Amino acid sequence: METIDAAELAEIGLRFEVDGEIATITLDRPDKRNAQTFATWRALARIGENLPGQVRIVVVEGEGPSFSAGIDLRMFTPEGVPGQGSFASNLSRDDESMEQAVATAQQGFLWLRRPDIVSIAAVQGHAIGAGFQLALACDLRVLADDAKFCMKEPALGLVPDLTGTKPLVDLVGLPRAIEMRLTARTVEAKEALELRLGELVVPRGELRQAVRDLAAALLSTDRGAATATKRLLQGAQGRSLEEQAAAERREQVQRMKALFARG
Ligand code: ACO
Repeated sequence: METIDAAELAEIGLRFEVDGEIATITLDRPDKRNAQTFATWRALARIGENLPGQVRIVVVEGEGPSFSAGIDLRMFTPEGVPGQGSFASNLSRDDESMEQAVATAQQGFLWLRRPDIVSIAAVQGHAIGAGFQLALACDLRVLADDAKFCMKEPALGLVPDLTGTKPLVDLVGLPRAIEMRLTARTVEAKEALELRLGELVVPRGELRQAVRDLAAALLSTDRGAATATKRLLQGAQGRSLEEQAAAERREQVQRMKALFARG
């Protein structure tokens, strides 16, 4: 996939900045509360594909009062989003091609779990629907004290399909995920912290600094060891204790070789 320049990103409502080992993706359409379109998701995928090799931390943040108000509601209108159509206009496609379109959108979210990076969502204000799912796509979430999560999709007749169902169940457990999602209720920062939807809650004015501090702490460890450790942690739930122990042995042998081959 080709890289994407700043002007093209600005048109889509995104910014992408790299400062050393930290990349920042900013949803930058505050007047529309950072509503997302298919173009947003395709651009996120392209950013992931072309992420500079030195980047170890990816911060995802939103400009203005809300992290993101979710999918652009023009998709529900007959006119749709200019150049991108609407839900109704896409119905002429066959099921496979419609699923492929969702798969393409999902690529914008899935790369944020890559073991060689740590992704951090900085969430203030509303994170609704696709906004909530984007925050869930990240490894870690730092919340402002005014953060509000809402999984609105079922209220609109849709399912959450931007990779958000599994991380939610992993974090809060199945009963709470059912309760939250099927009521489409809003979860505010204090409850979100209790439910492990965020690692910490800070006053709104301290959000950026809190993310910077977390990024600096994450960068203090060896990259190869951090990548291998994240891979191990990500695999832990799907393995038995014995299988996990074997995976630890395999990773450690590679670490020892890498360390001592350095001389
Ligand atoms: N899509 C398109 N435009 C939006 C969206 C959206 N999802 N959300 C807000 N906007 C626009 C508003 O239409 C308004 O535009 P205007 O100034 O041209 O009239 C502008 O953003 C500001 O919106 P307000 O409602 O005035 O902002 P406020 O801060 O009071 O409220 C909130 C923010 C709570 C996010 C509210 O805008 C809202 O509920 N938005 C809709 C959320 C939603 O249902 N999203 C879909 C979820 S499902 C999914 O993502 C798959």
